Amino acid sequence: MTALGAALPPLLRTRALGRTLVAHEEIGSTNDEAIRLAREGAPHGTVVLAERQTAGRGRRGRSWAGAPGNVFLSVVLRPDLPPRRAPELVPVVAVAAAEAVRGAGVDAGIKWPNDLLVGGRKVAGILTELSASAERIQSVVVGVGVNVNGLGADLPDEVRATATSLREVLGRDVSRAELVAALLERLEGWLDRHAAGGFAPVRTRYRELSATLGTRVRLIDADGTVEGVAEDIDEAGGLLLRRDDGTLERARTGDVTSLRSV
Ligand code: BTN
Repeated sequence: MTALGAALPPLLRTRALGRTLVAHEEIGSTNDEAIRLAREGAPHGTVVLAERQTAGRGRRGRSWAGAPGNVFLSVVLRPDLPPRRAPELVPVVAVAAAEAVRGAGVDAGIKWPNDLLVGGRKVAGILTELSASAERIQSVVVGVGVNVNGLGADLPDEVRATATSLREVLGRDVSRAELVAALLERLEGWLDRHAAGGFAPVRTRYRELSATLGTRVRLIDADGTVEGVAEDIDEAGGLLLRRDDGTLERARTGDVTSLRSV
């Protein structure tokens, strides 16, 4: 067991999330390990933590740096949802992660779909991976990487300019165990609200925490590039973008770059 793995259980205030916990010093990717455990039947709420990742994965085929001092965490979820509603879980996780980071005293906002930014710089990323048949979700693995106490110098050149860490923002170290406990508690709370009330309460909170809505953005997705004003989040977590010609673009996934505030 790692130091973080040992410090976490006494702080947990969850029913299921983190009650089965695996903590590694070093691993390729906590998401890969969580997917492997999910296939073997790991229960809902199983958490995989690592001190370092050697093959961390990001969204859209990118890699995620595995520097020590940060949080690398994956959670196995077994939600009772039809597979077509799985995309709603992306904003559920983003809202939970944003609230946990804000609880640590850092004013994070959500860059659509699920990056956390502080002052325009990325402090956390989320990778959600679904395993489902046509009728049933087998598992959803939620991977969260938070730059907590890691040093900027340990980040690759291409992300250093656009990334920050909680320590850099606050000027002091942050307890990773408390942050992870808060994240799991928030995530369980939002999963409960989503199960009871559907996507509407998540959408309301996501809008409040969004750093993208109301700004001019460039969206890059599988269909190409579009520019416009990020106007709203739709009923499934998609982004509604108002083009300059007045027409509306609906994006389900992709990357946005902020151009300037409007
Ligand atoms: C992104 O912003 O592109 C998503 C990054 C997700 C990184 C986390 S770190 C823990 C988990 N394991 C992985 O390999 N990736 C996720």
